[in-house]
Amino acid sequence: MSRIIIINGPNLNLLGVREKGIYGEHRFEDYFETLKAQYPAVELTYFQSNHEGELIDRIHDVGFSADGIVLNAGAYTHTSLALGDAIAAVTAPVVEVHISNVYAREPFRHHSYLAKNCKGVICGFGLDGYRLAVASLLPK
Ligand code: DQA
Repeated sequence: MSRIIIINGPNLNLLGVREKGIYGEHRFEDYFETLKAQYPAVELTYFQSNHEGELIDRIHDVGFSADGIVLNAGAYTHTSLALGDAIAAVTAPVVEVHISNVYAREPFRHHSYLAKNCKGVICGFGLDGYRLAVASLLPK
């Protein structure tokens, strides 16, 4: 059974509440239940934190045993060299996800400190981006 963890960073606990025009109407916990139902053969887990160090700790904890990490680091994507280094440090492949199309938004969202250490980047497909990321991490 593949083990994949979804890690969400700051402010993503407010999905369904926060800036609905950009991030949609759905709470992540509800979406996560439908995603798990679509992949009964995958051990899918979820972690969210608003704290950079907790995100790094979780990447270290799972990054040598999980088959893949789906990471939406929120605004830390554009600021955190430390998260980029954490991704480089672990062996599990990491897929960077953004709900919105960051390239259609402010210029400061166009740079990622994570992307170069990731297997790939998915952005602009709403919550469906998490499903696409999970699919990309499964054995072909
Ligand atoms: C985001 C995009 C980031 O620029 C922003 O800071 C977020 C969410 C997204 O999912 O579209 O918090 O990662």
